[in-house]
Amino acid sequence: MSKHSMHTHTCGELRAANVGDEVVLTGWVWHRRDHGGLIFIDLRDREGLTQVSFDPDISGGTAFHMAETVRPEWPIMVTGTVRPRPEGQANHNLATGEIEVLATQMTVLNSSKTPPFQIEDNADLSEDIRLRYRYLDLRRPSMAANLRLRSDFTFAIREALHKYAFTEVETPALFKSTPEGARDFIVPSRLQPGSFYALPQSPQLLKQLLMVGGIERYYQVAKCFRDEDLRADRQPEFTQVDIEMSFVTQDDVMGALEDVLADAFAAVGVEMPTPLRRISFVDAMNTYGIDKPDTRFGMELHDVTDVFANSKFKVFSAAANAEGQVIKCINAKGAGSWARSRIDKLAKVAAAFGAKGLAWIAFREDGSITSPIAKFFSDEEMAGVRAACDVEPGDLVLFAAGPWQLTCEILGGMRNHMADALELPREGHDFLWVVDFPLVHWDEDRKAFAAEHQPFTQPEEADLERLESDPLSVGSHTYDFVMDGYEAGGGGMRVHNAELQMRILKLLGFTEEASRAQFGFLLEALEYGAPPMGGFALGLDRVCMLLAGADSIREVMAFPKTTNGNDMMSDAPSAVDERQLRDVALRLL
Ligand code: AMO
Ligand code: AMP
Repeated sequence: MSKHSMHTHTCGELRAANVGDEVVLTGWVWHRRDHGGLIFIDLRDREGLTQVSFDPDISGGTAFHMAETVRPEWPIMVTGTVRPRPEGQANHNLATGEIEVLATQMTVLNSSKTPPFQIEDNADLSEDIRLRYRYLDLRRPSMAANLRLRSDFTFAIREALHKYAFTEVETPALFKSTPEGARDFIVPSRLQPGSFYALPQSPQLLKQLLMVGGIERYYQVAKCFRDEDLRADRQPEFTQVDIEMSFVTQDDVMGALEDVLADAFAAVGVEMPTPLRRISFVDAMNTYGIDKPDTRFGMELHDVTDVFANSKFKVFSAAANAEGQVIKCINAKGAGSWARSRIDKLAKVAAAFGAKGLAWIAFREDGSITSPIAKFFSDEEMAGVRAACDVEPGDLVLFAAGPWQLTCEILGGMRNHMADALELPREGHDFLWVVDFPLVHWDEDRKAFAAEHQPFTQPEEADLERLESDPLSVGSHTYDFVMDGYEAGGGGMRVHNAELQMRILKLLGFTEEASRAQFGFLLEALEYGAPPMGGFALGLDRVCMLLAGADSIREVMAFPKTTNGNDMMSDAPSAVDERQLRDVALRLL
C-alpha cells in the first residue's frame, strides 16, 4: 500500500511479529469497555479491528481521559506500542487477536452523533433505516466486504476482457430508446424544446454500431436504465458488463464468454467448469419448468399426459386430449407427511404462478394416501403416476394440467417453492447456458408478437421461411447465462442484414414508418457492410449478489433505490422548480 501520513498500519494488520513496534492507527471507535482503571477501545477501519488499551499509569492522563470521553463512531488517531495480549486472553477469531496496542497518545479527529443503529453485522435492522443512513450502513463490515467483492470481480472481468483483446468503449447515456422490454426513462431537451432523449435500457444498438465501425471486440461496464417494477433482483439503474464481437459464430462468442467468465470467477475463488452445460429452452421448461433453472437440486417435472388419456378425472382427461395441453407433476419428497391444511395452502402459491387449481396426492409414511383426486384414478393411472415419479412413502406429488408452457411454469414455480419450504441444500454455485429460445412470443396484453430477447436477434436460418406464416415456431440464436437459478446474463447473435431486420420489426408490429423513425440509424448502418455479430450482457449486480451470498442486489450496490424508486437519503425523485420546467418547455398536469 502507498505511504500514509496519518497512520503507520491499518486496523487489520498487526500481528505477534509486530510486538514492540511503535505504531499509529486511525479509525472509528467501535466498542469501548471500562475495566476499572483500564479502558479498552476496539478501533475499526475497513481492514479490521485492533484492540487499543489505555492504562492511566502508562498512557498518561490526557490520553486516558480522552479514552473516557470518546463515544462509538468517533474517528480517532492513536499512537502506541504493540504488546502481546496477556496470557490466555488472545482472541483466535480475530486476525489481530494476539496483540493489542498500548496507547501513549490519542487525537480525536471528530465527534459523532449517536448513530441511529449500531454498526454491527448481525443487527436486525429495517432496510429503510439502513438506506436512510446508507453511509453508516456501509461502515458495517459485511457491506464493506460486499463492495470490495464487487470491485474485485469487476476488476477481474475487466482484466480478463483486456487479456482476450476486448476494447472498452464508452457509449452515451443521453440517447434514443433501445427496447429491452421495459419503459424508458426520458430526459427533456432544453435546446430542442419538445424533444427528449431516452436513457439506454442497454447499449444494444450502440454496440451493434460499434461492430459496423470495426471495433470487433467491444466491452463496457455500462449503466442501464429501465423504468420497470422493482424486485429483489431488479433496480431502475443497474450495471451490465456489456460485450459484443464480430466476424464470429455463436460458438465463438459462447467460447470467448466462457473463457472470460471462468477467469473472472477464478479470481474471486469460484471455479466455473468449462465448457458449460447447455440446455435448450424447451428442455429447461420440460425438466425444470423455468428458463433459469437451479439444477443444484432435483425434483424435476414429469410428463404424465399419456397416463390420463381416458381418465374419469375430467380436468386431466380434457387436458390429455386437447391440442397443446399437457399434464405434468413434481414429487416433493418429504412433504408427504404435511398436514392436509398445509398442503391445501399450496393452491394459493400455485395460483400466483397462474394455476387454476393444484391437484395433489400425499403418500403417507404408513402407506395410506390422502388426496382430493386420487379417488377418480384407476389402478393403472395410479401405477402410472408411481412409476413416472418413483413414488415412496413420504412423497407429495403435485399436478398441473393445461397449456404446455403455463403448466411447466406453474410446476417450475412450485418446484422452487417446495425446495425452499423443504430447505433442500444448495451447495456451491451452479452455472449453465439456456439456449435456443423462440424468436417471439404472443403478448396477450398488446395483442401482438413480442421479441423473446430483443428485436435484433438473429432467427434460426432454417426457420426463416416461416417467419410470417408461423412466427411462434421460429427459433433464434440466443443464450442465457444462468447462475444459481438466476438469469445472470443473456445475449445472442444479431441480424446484420437490413432487409431481414425490417421483416422482424414488421412482425413485431412496427410500421415501416415507425421502424425508420425509431431505428432508422441502425437500419441504415446495416446497409454499409455490417459484419456477422453477436454478444452478451452480464448482470453485474446479480452476479455479485450471488457471489456475496446475498438475497437482494441492493446488498451489493452502494446507493440503491427502494421498491418505490426512492433514494432514502436524498429523497430523489423530488420536485424541480418552475424555472427548470420552463427551461425544457414542460408544464405539469
Ligand atoms: P438483458 O435485458 O437480458 O439483455 O439484460 C442482461 C442482464 O442484465 C441483468 N438485468 C438487470 N439487473 C438488475 N436490474 C434490472 N432491472 C435488470 N434487468 C436486466 C440480468 C440480465 O440477464 N442488450 C441485451 C444483451 C445482449 O443481447 O447482448 C440485454 O440487455 O442479469
Ligand atoms: P375441480 O374439478 O375444479 O373441483 O378440481 C378438482 C381438483 O383438481 C382440485 O384439487 C383442483 O385444485 C384441481 N385442479 C383443477 N384444475 C386443475 C388444473 N388445471 N391442474 C391441476 N389441478 C387442477
